[in-house]
Amino acid sequence: MCYRRFGQYMEPSEMRFHTRKWVKPEDLNPNQTLFGGRLLQWIDEEAALYAIIQLENPHVVTKFISEINFITAPRQGDIIEIGIVATHFGTTSLTMRCEVRNKLTRESILTIDKMVFVNVDINGKPAPHGKTQITYVEDRRKKS
Ligand SMILES: CC(C)(COP(=O)(O)OP(=O)(O)OC[C@H]1O[C@@H](n2cnc3c(N)ncnc32)[C@H](O)[C@@H]1OP(=O)(O)O)[C@@H](O)C(=O)NCCC(=O)NCCS
Repeated sequence: MCYRRFGQYMEPSEMRFHTRKWVKPEDLNPNQTLFGGRLLQWIDEEAALYAIIQLENPHVVTKFISEINFITAPRQGDIIEIGIVATHFGTTSLTMRCEVRNKLTRESILTIDKMVFVNVDINGKPAPHGKTQITYVEDRRKKS
């Protein structure tokens, strides 16, 4: 579990749901529900952006994705939201957890326990990122 500073206290980091998606006809499979590959594409991009922002390096790559649990199937017109939270800062890696849910009903759509991204140098080789905990852009800006 990853902790963030909150005054004097250290509290477990909460998952934040930043990105919302509107399920459109082009996102559907032949069963008229959201195509799983489309959802994974959205999640991979969301996790990459999260890693880039946390590690402050635009060069990160997807290394490992654990079991993907598709819980319920969204339908056309549903609004879904993607949540990501960092669970472990390694030397060159960042491990995250993901949950996708229906924005309005909060029904769970998918969970992924472990997504590992690796911080790489310009040659694509693993490089230490030097980060140990979640930081927020607004806090970084206040400090600078
Ligand atoms: C990512 C890549 C550079 C890592 O190279 P590597 O030789 O495996 O590097 P390492 O063995 O030093 O591991 C790097 C980190 O990944 C972690 N890691 C490696 N394999 C892992 C696995 N199967 N599961 C979880 N973490 C893993 C290591 O623990 C290490 O983390 P740490 O430094 O925080 O301890 C290389 O595997 C690669 O280029 N893969 C292709 C990436 C890609 O194309 N992704 C899709 C498009 S973005």
